[in-house]
Amino acid sequence: MSEMVNADKPSTVAAPRPGEQTLQVRLRALIWEAPGVLSLQLTAADGGPLPPFEPGAHIDLKLPNGTLRQYSLCGDPNDTSHYRLGIRAISGGLSSTFVHKALRPGELLTVSTPRNNFPLVDSKHYIFVAGGIGITPFIPMMREASAKGRPWTLIYCNKRNQDAPFLAEIRTIGGEISLHSSEAGTRLDVAKRFSTVEQDAVVYCCGPESLMTAVEEATKDWPEGTVHFEWFAPRSRASDQPDGSFEVVCQQSGITVTVPADKSILEVLGENGIEVPRSCEQGVCGTCELRVISGEVDHRDSILSSSERAASATMMVCVSRSKGPRLVLDV
Ligand code: FES
Repeated sequence: MSEMVNADKPSTVAAPRPGEQTLQVRLRALIWEAPGVLSLQLTAADGGPLPPFEPGAHIDLKLPNGTLRQYSLCGDPNDTSHYRLGIRAISGGLSSTFVHKALRPGELLTVSTPRNNFPLVDSKHYIFVAGGIGITPFIPMMREASAKGRPWTLIYCNKRNQDAPFLAEIRTIGGEISLHSSEAGTRLDVAKRFSTVEQDAVVYCCGPESLMTAVEEATKDWPEGTVHFEWFAPRSRASDQPDGSFEVVCQQSGITVTVPADKSILEVLGENGIEVPRSCEQGVCGTCELRVISGEVDHRDSILSSSERAASATMMVCVSRSKGPRLVLDV
C-alpha cells in the first residue's frame, strides 16, 4: 500500500550510470578452460570496440532463456575488441546450464555495460584469495598489479589442482601462486594464514561462501579497507530486524510512499512511477544503489563494506530496508 502525497509529479527515470545500459554482443568463441568451466568471448554486434572496463568489473549477461546473471570480466582491460567471461556449470543453475548445454558461437546476446563494485585499490602488495571460478575477477587485477610492478600472491583453492581454471595463463602473469586442494590434503588453513596483519598488503577474496566467511572472520581485526570481498550470490547473513512497514520520502520526485512488510523499496517505487534501474534484485550487483539523505538503514546487501554500511551514504533498495519509521532517499 502506498501513499501518494503529490500525484501530479511525472514518472522519474534516473540518468544511466555504469552498468545500466545494454549492448548487443555476438558470442565469438566458447573455450573449454577446465572441467566444468567454459570461457565466452563476446564481441560487439557491430564489430566495433566495446566500452572499456577496469579490473574487478562485471557485466550482466542476459541469455535467450530469459535468465540474467552477473559475471566478472576476466579478459585484458587493454583489449576492447572483446569481453571474456568464465562460467562454471552449476547443478541447477539456469544460466550456467544454458551456457554449457545450449549456447553456440555466433549467437547474439545482450549484456550490460561494465560496472565495478570490486576496484583494485593502490597497494604495495596484493593477496588474492580465490576459490574455483572465483578466480575470474583476479585475472585482470593480477595483470594490472604486474604491469605496475607490484608484487602479488594468489592463494588458489580448488578441489583438485589440475581442475583450477585459467591456471596455465595465470602462471605467465608473474606473481607467486599458492595452490590448495582439498583432494590432495592441502586445504587452506584460513585462520592460520591470516592470523597476523600483513603490513602494506591488501587482501581480495572471491569464492564460495564458506571461504569468504572464513576469510572475513580471520581478518576481522585487520585495518579498515585492507580486505575486500566480491559476492556473486547473496550471502546468508540474516538481518536482526523484522520486516516492518516504513515510509520512504523521495526527495527528487516529491512523493512519499509506504513500504509494507512484504514488499521491497524497489517494488514500491516502481508501483509509484519511480523506475530505479535493477538487475540481480538480490543485493549483489549494485545496480539499484540510491543515495540516502536521512534515516537509519537496515543494510541487507552483499556489496557494501562495514564502514560503508556505517556511513550509510547509499543503499541497495532491492533488499535493504529501514530500521526506523522513515527514510529520505535521493530519487
Ligand atoms: Fe542488484 Fe539491487 S538490483 S543490488
